[in-house]
Amino acid sequence: MARRFKLRPLHENEDSAKEGVGFVDRREFMRMSFNTAAGLITMASLGSVGFASFLMGQASSGGSDQAILFYAPKGSEVWYGNMDKQPMTMQAFRDEAADSSTGMSAAAGLWSGLPVVAVYVPHEENTNRPLSENEPRFQLMDGVTASGAYVGSGYEIEEKEEFASLSIHDNMIIIFSRCPHLCCIPGWQLVNNDFTADNWLPGGTDSGGNKLFCICHSSRYDPTVIEKNTARNRSNGQDFDFIGIKKTGGPAPYGMPLIPFIVNGDAIEALPDFKDWYTFCG
Ligand code: FES
Repeated sequence: MARRFKLRPLHENEDSAKEGVGFVDRREFMRMSFNTAAGLITMASLGSVGFASFLMGQASSGGSDQAILFYAPKGSEVWYGNMDKQPMTMQAFRDEAADSSTGMSAAAGLWSGLPVVAVYVPHEENTNRPLSENEPRFQLMDGVTASGAYVGSGYEIEEKEEFASLSIHDNMIIIFSRCPHLCCIPGWQLVNNDFTADNWLPGGTDSGGNKLFCICHSSRYDPTVIEKNTARNRSNGQDFDFIGIKKTGGPAPYGMPLIPFIVNGDAIEALPDFKDWYTFCG
């Protein structure tokens, strides 16, 4: 029998699991998730060239071509459900983070039809404090391949001009959210387990909560760890290095890449600087 996951209730004191409605298996999750979005179906059919041109921007409802829109997976009870398809704003994340025990918040989104997760971390508040439980901040770490070979350092976002657009700002990162295992869509606190609980431990290990979690085969990612790693374009077989978040557990071979962004007024807008990084499922 397929493994079933308990959906996370919108508020901790809600019982969203009554009559079995709050439980999903992998097939049900995929149905209610992004894979039903027309944009992704389009993306899956594009080769690497078509993919790059697709990323040049689409007109989107209520925002600029580069605006990131909230995307509430169908059937879920996420905090941004009443903002579905509306442009993401910094204030929405700050407001939600104020109700978190870690000061973190995150949401799934769509940018030019691509699945993303925006993660807010109280980095500026905590970065000069001693590392401690539930005081999250972004951590720049070394990235290594599955065989342990060193690839590069997350510090390159501070040290190399080519990655300057990825330097930490506004307490936020944007992640291209396709699992490098078999290309499912990892989510933020959509299911209830130890990996998605609202707590945080330093060090980028598989311990502690607030991981991005892929329900398909349980890969986990720490969105507070920035590393350099290497991936493979599945269309042309070419390897490439990228800056992304760290995989902490499960079958995925590496983490998921970052997307640079700006805050325009209060709106979060992505930048198409690293289109080739989003091709590992192409
Ligand atoms: S597709 Fe994500 S763990 Fe398999």
